[in-house]
Formats: sequence, structure tokens, C-alpha cells
Amino acid sequence: KKAKEGHYAVGQFNINNLEWTKSVLLTAEELKSPVILGVSEGAGKYMTGFGTVAAMVKAMHDELGITVPVALHLDHGTYEGCYKCIKAGFTSIMFDGSHYPIDENVAKTKELVAVAHAMGMSIEAEVGSIGGEEDGVVGMGECADPDECKRVADLGVDMLAAGIGNIHGKYPANWQGLSFETLDAIQQKTGVMPLVLHGGTGIPADMIKKAIDLGVSKINVNTECQLSFADATRKYIEAGKDLEGKGFDPRKLLAPGAEAIKATVKEKMELFGSEIIIECLKEQGVDTVFGYPGGTILNVYDALYKHSDEIHHVLTSHEQGASHAADGYARATGRVGVCMATSGPGATNLVTGIATAHMDSIPMVAITANVATGLLGRDSFQEVDITGITLSVTKHNFMVNTPEELAQRIH
Ligand code: 13P
Repeated sequence: KKAKEGHYAVGQFNINNLEWTKSVLLTAEELKSPVILGVSEGAGKYMTGFGTVAAMVKAMHDELGITVPVALHLDHGTYEGCYKCIKAGFTSIMFDGSHYPIDENVAKTKELVAVAHAMGMSIEAEVGSIGGEEDGVVGMGECADPDECKRVADLGVDMLAAGIGNIHGKYPANWQGLSFETLDAIQQKTGVMPLVLHGGTGIPADMIKKAIDLGVSKINVNTECQLSFADATRKYIEAGKDLEGKGFDPRKLLAPGAEAIKATVKEKMELFGSEIIIECLKEQGVDTVFGYPGGTILNVYDALYKHSDEIHHVLTSHEQGASHAADGYARATGRVGVCMATSGPGATNLVTGIATAHMDSIPMVAITANVATGLLGRDSFQEVDITGITLSVTKHNFMVNTPEELAQRIH
């Protein structure tokens, strides 16, 4: 629900073993991003049972000192599997009744919603099977019926996975793409229900962003981590590294694969939260922004560029021009002026315009980027304490440290 309000999607990354779990947790912590660890019934069996998985995840979470929210979620659970995970101490389950006739799916989902909620757990349901093969179950990739989605959403599930032409595993060359009409129709019928996009592997970035825009708040990725892991491991072996010294030690042999999983998870997490600022600005009715780009704010500029038909960016020759222009724009139009700049000198160059607007009570919002969280407070390149510097010339200022709080702060 928070992701939906915040215009981002939480990633579900399926885990297979200790290395997978460690890589996903460390990356979530590094990016200060909430994360969902997905466990399919097959992966649970592989790890000797859901009890083993729950104990490993709980202990690893504590030993690594993870501070971001972590959910341990059963992926495509059977009716029996759901009960096993409830007993094992999972925090969330998915009941996939999509292969049952709708009345049976509704009846079973209803029962499991009551049990999960009584145990303080969240529950995801599915309508319309997701294509491809997962754990031996082959789906054709249907588009779900929005009315059936509404029936299941009305049971009080916390998230709903609905088929919109998505497929588990690699997408075939002749794939038609996601059906955004279906997604839109489902969201219209289900109101504020957070929707889940399965089969995250290989969906192009622009489709992911559009899906988030239309209501997707959780995206599942499995195969892509497996492919990155296999690729990095193959390179290690092919380079003969296992034959050098103690290169056969599993801690060395599996290290490149584990790093590759981290890189994939990082890329996905950044993609799933990449348009929060743009969506919030649009929601606030902002159609003009004044600014000057720089290193740390380039991601925002990438997103702005893609939405240049909705938000007009006025490039000034220096950041000071941007803050004075935003101030002038607000005076002339009666609307809120918005300006943006990069960290350090970019941010300090805004100060005179901010002070001018503050003196004359002109409504203005200034957005600056900052150095990466791990570099904060270390006199890093292009780092200044911009909240401290602008404290006396702003009504309020915030340092946003996690993607989760971004939307709330902009609003
Ligand atoms: P991919 O393997 O295609 O990423 O799908 C993952 C998934 O949807 C898990 O439920």
C-alpha cells in the first residue's frame, strides 16, 4: 500500500539458497529499499523445507543487521503450501488458485485471507494464470477478467496478481508485450488494490514504468538473477579460476555469481523506484521546472527527459538562475515555483534564489540530489550540508534517505 501511494514498486526476488538470500538482503540494505524474499514451493523443498528457510532468513536478517523492511513470502503457493508457510513463520503468503474454477479460487482464497490476517500476515491472490513454466506448472499467459479480479480483491487480499500477458522466464521473440488495457481495466475495478506483476525478467524498462504508473506495486523477479548467477559462474570456470590456488573453495567459486545477483537486484530496485519524483510532481500539477543538471541528479533528469511532454524543463545557465526563475514564475503565475540542482555546489548555487523567495513569502520548492547514502557526512566529492545551509531561508527542509519517504516529502 505504501509503495502504491509512493509511486514505486517493491521488488520480490526469489531465493534459492544462502548466497541468494545474502545477496538480496545486502543489496536492499545498501539501497535502503524494502524487499520481498520470494520462495516457491520447489525452492522451499530444495532448501529442505519452509522451516529451514524461515530460520535462515530470520537469523541472516539479524546477523547482517538489516534495517530495511523485509518480507518472507511464499510464491505461487498451493492451499497446503500456504498452511505450511503460516506454520513455518513466513510473514506473507501467495495463494495461487488461478488454475481452479473462479468459484473455487474465491472460496479457498477467502478462507486463507481470514487465516493469514488472523496471524498478522499479508496475502496475495492470483486471477488469470501467468504464462511460462514455474516449478513444472505451465501457464499460457492469459489476460485476467477484471470482474473476476474484483471478486477476489473484494475478499480483502493485500495484493493481487493478475495475468496481463506476462510470462515467467525469458520472453519469446514474438511476445506481444503487456496488455496495459487489461491492467488499467483491472485497476479501475479494484480501486486502490496493489497489483503484482509476475515474470519481471526481461520486461523492458519502459513497460515496467508504465505498469507502475497504472497501479503495479510489487514486481517479481526470479529468472534474471539465475541467469546472472550462471553467467558469472561460467566465466569464472571458463577462465580456469577454479584451478588456480584455492579457487575451488565454494566461497571463492560462488562469489562472482553472488556479486552478479547483487548487480541485477540493484538494477531492478533502481528501476522500480526511478520515477517517483516525476509522478509526484505530476500529481501536484507541476508542469514547469527550472534547473541545471549535474552528476548526482542525472537519474531524475533521465526520467524528466522521458516525460518532457508533461513537464517542461527550463535549462538555465547556472543554478542561481533556476532558483530566481522559479521565484519569478511563482510571482507571475501564483503557482508554486519548482527548481532543481545537483548536490554540493549545484545545491549551494540555489541559495540566493531560495532566500529571495523566503523573504517575500513566495511559494517555492527546491529539489537537490545528494551523494550516495554511504558517502554522507564524509566530506565526499560535491557534498555539502544543504539542509543545514538552507535552514534559515526555508520554511521547512527535509533530507530524504529512503525511496519510501520520497513521495510523502514531496507531497
Ligand atoms: P521471472 O522468473 O520471469 O522473473 O518471474 C518471477 C516470478 O514471477 C515469480 O513469481
